[in-house]
Amino acid sequence: MVGSGLIVLLILAMTCLTRGAMAARYTVGDHVGWTSPPNITSGFYDDWAANKTFMGGDVLEFNYKGTQNLAVVSREEYDHCKRVSKVLGEGEEGEGYAYPLPANANGMYYFVSTIDSHCKGGQKLAIKVTSSVPFLTSLSSDSLSVLVSAILSALFIR
Ligand SMILES: *[C@@H]1O[C@H](CO)[C@@H](O)[C@H](O)[C@H]1NC(C)=O
Ligand SMILES: *[C@@H]1O[C@H](CO)[C@@H](O)[C@H](O)[C@H]1NC(C)=O
Repeated sequence: MVGSGLIVLLILAMTCLTRGAMAARYTVGDHVGWTSPPNITSGFYDDWAANKTFMGGDVLEFNYKGTQNLAVVSREEYDHCKRVSKVLGEGEEGEGYAYPLPANANGMYYFVSTIDSHCKGGQKLAIKVTSSVPFLTSLSSDSLSVLVSAILSALFIR
């Protein structure tokens, strides 16, 4: 009994580890980096994010081209380029900020530069993040224990 329980736990742990190992690093805007007009036009970061699948645990690298900053904001702040005080990092050309998406991230994430009219000029990024552990996060702890006992009894009914 104890042995099988351990095996189930090991399988669950390995699933998590394997997914963790697949965490990707993205350079936002690729060689253009995190920058403002005239280096970019409106919609540039939407195009960059299109067709990419972001998962919890992935790291977004914002490479500043020119003097930039980075803030994680709400949908409303993103839409209206509202001023926010919580700036993650501010820096010059060549500096930047690496933002690790939380492992359990699930849903939309919004990033802007809060400097002058950078955001209005298109320095804003919206991405949809999928949890990297959908199997586990979609289960409540109750259904998880039901599942574990189902697996355990399946192992013993032979
Ligand atoms: C995304 O993928 C579609 C279909 O493969 C393609 O037509 C489109 O150009 C791609 N968009 C970007 C921004 O790469
Ligand atoms: C545009 O990019 C160049 C090269 O990285 C940088 O020196 C310049 O400051 C940027 N301009 C703006 C307005 O961000």
